[in-house]
Amino acid sequence: MNFKPVQILSVGMSVPETVITNDDLTKILDTSDEWISTRTGIKQRHIANGDENSTLFGIKAAQDALNKAGMNGEAVDAIIAASSNPYNIYPSTGCAIQDAIGAKNAIAFDITVACTGMIYALELGRSLIATGKYKNVLLVATDTNSKFLDWSDRGSCVLFGDGAGAILITESQDGIDDIIALNINANGSMGKFIAMNLIGENCPLVDPATEGCKKITMNGKEVYKFVVQTMPESIMTCLKDANLEPKDIDYLVPHQANLRIIEGLQNRLEFNDDKVIVNIDKYGNTSAASVPIALCEAIETGKIKTPSKAILCAFGAGMAWGSAVVRLREGLNQK
Ligand code: UT7
Repeated sequence: MNFKPVQILSVGMSVPETVITNDDLTKILDTSDEWISTRTGIKQRHIANGDENSTLFGIKAAQDALNKAGMNGEAVDAIIAASSNPYNIYPSTGCAIQDAIGAKNAIAFDITVACTGMIYALELGRSLIATGKYKNVLLVATDTNSKFLDWSDRGSCVLFGDGAGAILITESQDGIDDIIALNINANGSMGKFIAMNLIGENCPLVDPATEGCKKITMNGKEVYKFVVQTMPESIMTCLKDANLEPKDIDYLVPHQANLRIIEGLQNRLEFNDDKVIVNIDKYGNTSAASVPIALCEAIETGKIKTPSKAILCAFGAGMAWGSAVVRLREGLNQK
């Protein structure tokens, strides 16, 4: 497919105010700050409180991206919401966001690609722009993992946090494409290693279901092994497609799942610390929102300077994984 060039207009984010530290978790689990920090790099995570939910954070991140681009909701042509634990299955998170931001001219729908949601959304968003029918496309990733974790399973519940990120893209007017290359993948045979069932309840006239678990289950070791093999391959493929080498890239904005995985990618790319965006210590793994939150925060704290080129990469349930080489234009998020 010949893609029309795409411009990245802005990046937004929103996280819950409530923070739960590793020490807090020792009140409900046999764990320690030392174990969690050394194995994962996580020190704390933001967690939805009371009635806060993934739709709410998605709306806030979407509005943040619009404000930063100086755009009104009515100018948005399409909204793709990536959420793996949405507040509602329907109406979709995309439709709820459409209503809240006044995007009355936009189509809106959801995708479920777990932590790789934003990379898939970038591919779908640019495909919509390529049709010529949609100009301004709002990509929103939002997850409140905390509501679906098994809080008695110390091997999984310490890893995740809640939040949302948004990226606003548009058809580029100067012919320059900010999505220089993009690589996405899936391997459903690995699906059992991270799962969250929506089992519902059978009709009372038939036998009740005996299989399935409403909480997130994960085999961390298997996920880890899979990711350290596939993630570098995806990044290298993406760089090759972009005709670039690691030295041509200014920043790595990786999925914040485990600091050891991030360091492995950093070593493979031979990047120094200044080029690698890490905020896992503050947020934990916020699933699909992890990459846009890291990108947004790094631009706003000045860790990422523009103009520059960055690799975005993510992996997670599915298994699905992918990466993108993107251009971050001068002045991005400066409005
Ligand atoms: O978006 C994708 C999401 N998933 C991932 O990225 C997961 C990737 N995998 C990982 O990050 C790592 O596998 C984990 C951090 C989840 C686990 O690290 P590990 O080094 O693979 O630990 P393990 O599961 O082999 O557990 C080692 C020990 C076990 O104790 P024993 O059997 O050796 O006595 C666990 O019971 O650590 C124990 N353990 C804990 N101890 C204290 C597991 N979780 C905890 C905990 N606190 N929270």
